[in-house]
This record gives sequence, structure tokens and C-alpha cells, in this order.
Amino acid sequence: MPLPHWEETPTDLTGAIREIKAALRAQIAASGRTVEEVFAVVERDVAAEVAEIAAAKARGETVWPVISYADIEAGTVSTADVARLRKRGCSVVRGHFPREQALGWDTGIVQYVEENAFFENYRGPGDDFFGSVGSKPEIYPIYWSHAQMEARQSDRMARVQAFLNSQWKHTSDDGTQWFDPERDSLYPDRIRRRPEGADSAGLGTHLDPGTLDLWMTQAYQQAFRHLFDGSVEQYDPWDAAYRTSGPQYPGSTMCSAFRTFQGWTALSDMAHDQGVLHTVPIPGAMAYLMLRPLLNDVPDDDMCGVTVNQVFPATDKWHGLLMEALAGIPDVQAGDSVWWHCDMIHSVAPVQDQKGWGNVMYIPAAPWCPRNEAYASSVREAFRTGSSPSDFPAEHYERDWRNRFTEADLNTTGRRGLGLVP
Ligand SMILES: [Fe+2]
Repeated sequence: MPLPHWEETPTDLTGAIREIKAALRAQIAASGRTVEEVFAVVERDVAAEVAEIAAAKARGETVWPVISYADIEAGTVSTADVARLRKRGCSVVRGHFPREQALGWDTGIVQYVEENAFFENYRGPGDDFFGSVGSKPEIYPIYWSHAQMEARQSDRMARVQAFLNSQWKHTSDDGTQWFDPERDSLYPDRIRRRPEGADSAGLGTHLDPGTLDLWMTQAYQQAFRHLFDGSVEQYDPWDAAYRTSGPQYPGSTMCSAFRTFQGWTALSDMAHDQGVLHTVPIPGAMAYLMLRPLLNDVPDDDMCGVTVNQVFPATDKWHGLLMEALAGIPDVQAGDSVWWHCDMIHSVAPVQDQKGWGNVMYIPAAPWCPRNEAYASSVREAFRTGSSPSDFPAEHYERDWRNRFTEADLNTTGRRGLGLVP
């Protein structure tokens, strides 16, 4: 019997949760194993990874892999480095851009916002996703500076994105190609500039790929088919099948694009203890997160706290085992970039009296696919008019700004990324 599915946000959320949980339990049970037995398989595997990571942390080792950009450019990333990337689902790319270039971009952004009186006109946070700590923003809702677009369309960015995309299985055995690993859609995102001396509460542990849609749309039900039919041993967190076309329920934290990896590029040096990014570096933990709500200790109308219009929370209450593996990035320099698998739990640590700046440009890997091609049409419109992209609050600061990056500044990668040429 096919699973019930909702291609738009269900009007009766708790009713839909009850219905899908019962249907998923029944479908898993039909495989001959109970949900508890299937979950135990996942829990055992994840617990082994958690123990390994916790031990490494206790020894004072850096859990995050580091890959040098020079190796990616030369095609000489070792098999051991690739294995670490796939095992941990994240990596720093050291020397992705020359440090001076990244620092120059940071200065360029300051010039761009100052010459356009951004701080005088700033109206406060347009959403409550990233809390602001004062009247000056930390997150700049700025998308179209030269610095951002130069980085997005650079050869160096394209090479790293292609390398990361190729870790995914983008073509099925039957020949269906789910995305093109060599072409990125230049997903426009914001900038964070957190000043010296800042106090920040950080960001709690959460996931970005979706909310209730992860269980409720047909595309995600197919993408997570092995979790939902009892064949959990075959679940592959690197399989892109069915992930690159389906809808996502709208919300203030939504991402219309399919991203293989989330990422940002450092525009300042940042020490590992200054409020930096952490992940639970276990790609397979998604199986745990998806199956956990189906266990009997979770109320029938509760998805372990996941609901629409709020970010997917990872919590001690339901995911305590995973939290033990939370691991922060090592020290990074301006020009390094940081990447993590799109399904992984992540957080930003709190910081008091921050030493040095904490400046990043958010640039993920969002390869060309039907879903990203569809979103690219609204990105093109936002680019031409200097508007905020439709995934973000409609703040539109840059519409009449001087020195915006324009169509004439695009190179071939930029034109292809925006879908202006095939
Ligand atoms: Fe996030």
C-alpha cells in the first residue's frame, strides 16, 4: 500500500503526523522486522561512530578533516583524505583562496555597504532565524556584492564544488542523472560579519534539509525509501536519487535549492574557540534522525519536535547519543572554506568577548538539477534587480545601490550558474 503523502503543507498537522507515523510503522513492519529492530541497527552503527569521535575529542585531536585546495586543483587528493571526507561528511578546504584575496573581499564588502549607507538604513533582522545581538547586524542581508559574486563564479569555487558534488551518487544504475556535478547554480546567500568583542549566543543544533516534508512528500519518501521500508542497511546518505526535484514546505528557514554540501568561505582568521561552526560529523546519522520519531516513547502526534516553519531541531531529549559527537572546526584563516553534508546536524558555538573578527560568505554547493534550475529563474530576477532572493526575507536593500555586481561582470561560470546560457 502506498504511503499517504502531502505535496503541500498539511492543514491538519497533528492529524498528518499521526497518519504518516502509523503508515511508516506498518510499512517497516511489513518487511518482517519491527521499527525497534530496524532502529537498533542504525543505533548500533551510529553509536560506534559517536564513540570514535568522542575518543578523538578526548585525546584532543581535531575531528574535522582538512583537505588542501592545491590537492583538489591538481587532482591529487589522497584516497585516505577522500575516505575521511566521506566518513565525517565535512571538511575544511585549506587555502581555497589566497588569504590576501579573502581579506580584500572583506574590505570590499565594508566599502560596498558603507558607500550605500547600509548601517544608517538598516531596519533590523528580517527574520528571527539568526538572532541579532545589537543594532548593527551580524548577518548582512546582502547578496550581490562584487566580493560574493567573484567568489561564486570563480574557477577555484567551481573546482571545489565539483569535487564535493562528485562524492555523491548523482547518476543511478538505470542511467537517471539526478544532477550535474560540474555545474553549480550559484545559490545566493548572505554574509556574516561578527566584530571583535562580540558576545553571541550562537545557534542551537539543527538541520537544514527540510522539516515535516522529509517524511511527508513523495519525493522525500522515495529518497529515504530504505529507511521507510525496513531495508535500512542499504540506506546511502550520498545517494541523490529523488532529492533534486521535489517540493519543500515553505517557511522562514527554507532552502528551495538542493545542496550537496553547505558551506562558507572565511573572510577573517578565526580560532577554533571563538564561536565557530560545529557539526555532528556522521552522515549516516540522518537514518537515526528520521526513524527516531517512530519509536514508542514519542507521542503519536510528535515528530521529535519537528514542525513546519521552524528549523529542524536536534535535541538532548530525543537525540542525546548524537550530541556527544558534536565537533568544532579547527582554526581557519581567511580564504579557507568549510563544508558539511546537507543533512548533518550543525550549530554555532556561543562566544563572549570574541577575539578577532568572525566573517564569512555563505556559499554552498548547489549543483544544476531540476530543482535548482527552477529556483534559478527567481535568482536571475533578483540578480538583475538587486533584490533579496525569494528564499530570504524581502528586504531588498541593494536595489538602488551603487557598485553592485552586474550582468556585464559575469564570466562563463556565472552565466551558466544563473541559467543565462546552457
Ligand atoms: Fe543551518
